[in-house]
Amino acid sequence: MTVLVIGGGLAQAPIPWSMWYRRPLEAFWLAQGLNPHPIRLVRPPVRKLTAVARLGQKLFYDPRLSASGRMSCATCHSPAHAFGPPDGAAVARGGPALKTPGVRAVPSLRYLYRQPIFSIGPDFAAGENDRGPTLSQQAQQATRHIRVRKTARSPRAAAANWVPEGGLFWDGRADTLQQQASGPLFNPAEMDAGTPARVALLLEHSGYAEDFRRLFGAGIFGDPRQVVAEATFALARYQIESSAFHPFTSKFDAWLAGKARFDRAELQGYLAFNDPDKGNCAACHLDRPTRDGLPPLFTDFQYEALGVPRNPDIPANRDPHYYDLGLCGPFRTDLRNQAAYCGMFVTPSLRNVATRYVFFHNGVFHSLTQVLEWYVNRDLHPSRFYPKDAAGRVVKYDDMPARYRINVDTTDAPFHRHPGDPPALTRAQIRDVIAFLKTLTDGYRPGDADRRRAMPR
Ligand code: HEC
Ligand code: HEC
Repeated sequence: MTVLVIGGGLAQAPIPWSMWYRRPLEAFWLAQGLNPHPIRLVRPPVRKLTAVARLGQKLFYDPRLSASGRMSCATCHSPAHAFGPPDGAAVARGGPALKTPGVRAVPSLRYLYRQPIFSIGPDFAAGENDRGPTLSQQAQQATRHIRVRKTARSPRAAAANWVPEGGLFWDGRADTLQQQASGPLFNPAEMDAGTPARVALLLEHSGYAEDFRRLFGAGIFGDPRQVVAEATFALARYQIESSAFHPFTSKFDAWLAGKARFDRAELQGYLAFNDPDKGNCAACHLDRPTRDGLPPLFTDFQYEALGVPRNPDIPANRDPHYYDLGLCGPFRTDLRNQAAYCGMFVTPSLRNVATRYVFFHNGVFHSLTQVLEWYVNRDLHPSRFYPKDAAGRVVKYDDMPARYRINVDTTDAPFHRHPGDPPALTRAQIRDVIAFLKTLTDGYRPGDADRRRAMPR
């Protein structure tokens, strides 16, 4: 049962009756599209870029480092698209002629500044004893712990789960932005820069030579590996220092601060996103500020196997024996024998997700409607998403070999439903959740209506 507030012309959205009963004040403000608990967000400080970061900025946009001479970091991580892919291709193409296809969708580079390093287990403190357990020892430990169901009502409970979390790339195989940057630089399907010697030579004969000598010492070009290390360090500094990578200028951020109001669809979407019996999205895509007032990043940094459908548009998938299994390979190799982690990929931030044209690690979906339809109907109507085998049976979770399909999350809502159950979200609620997701796009300018009606602070 729901109630509409009609007062002062502020009729907004139906708030669940139970909320009116338990938390009337909260319900009152929410019903008007306002954040009941406005906060002052702790944003990363905006400072002038250091000289190293400015060098990194130039390198980020410079295609000369690539084999083709036509590809820079910004080609795939487009600044006009939240540093995500500029188009709807499932995977980007790189290499000498920009024809070599990649294997995974290009992620956004925004909001990685709080990405923890890769670990397994709750708050494992590296260095607690001299020789910390290796990852496979941690993984062994983890199998002895029972996993808490993730719900949007108490997402912190799941933080104690012994599950893999953190790291960069869809499989967490790099820990720092510096470590990460040499990946695309030398990846033959990406910039394909060749050898450190080639990169060092290019840089020595470019406009950067002086920058490098000034910042890293007159003799820097005598050591090509050091040149590459400093170049990747500079790229990392740019991504860490520049507020372009963590602007926090979305409507949602304004709403958190009490400076914007949701319209009816956005509010209903927000409620469904947080409702454990509906989307339950906030169980993994955390949307509450941290206790220290840090803005939420819409990820818990944890890994899950969701069993998204195989994408025939990825050329590598033409080989029926090829599978991208995330944590257990093929690109990271240290967890190859941890069968329980096969098929797991990191939970991405949903900030700016509405600016994307490809979704999930394999870019299989091309609109948020498709994504939400899949979330809601994966196990209710699998034939809509998965192909049939020779015997005419629908092959659920077809992008994983049969023996690993048991890893797919079937306990957390909305994935705990069975054929015949009502869907977690109706069509109209799906539209609302998408309206809410659009409030996560940076670059919001408060309209007059918002300013007039926002709560006084
Ligand atoms: C050909 C397209 C392409 C180019 C060029 C490219 N990247 Fe990427 N980038 C990707 C893809 C694809 C991934 C995800 C790969 C994976 O998960 O295995 C990625 C991942 C990343 C990540 C990790 C993001 C995350 O969410 O964990 C960072 C950081 C990054 N790239 C930075 C860079 C930098 C810096 C450059 C330039 C030196 C660059 N990229 C050039 C395609 C590209
Ligand atoms: C159990 C944890 C969990 C829950 C609950 C969950 N997600 Fe996700 N979400 C993930 C993971 C993990 C991925 C990446 C999976 C992959 O690529 O294989 C993901 C990916 C996505 C993506 C694609 C993002 C991108 O950059 O490609 C969207 C959009 C999304 N989720 C929205 C939602 C919405 C909306 C809900 C609620 C209906 C929801 N999620 C519920 C874990 C979760």
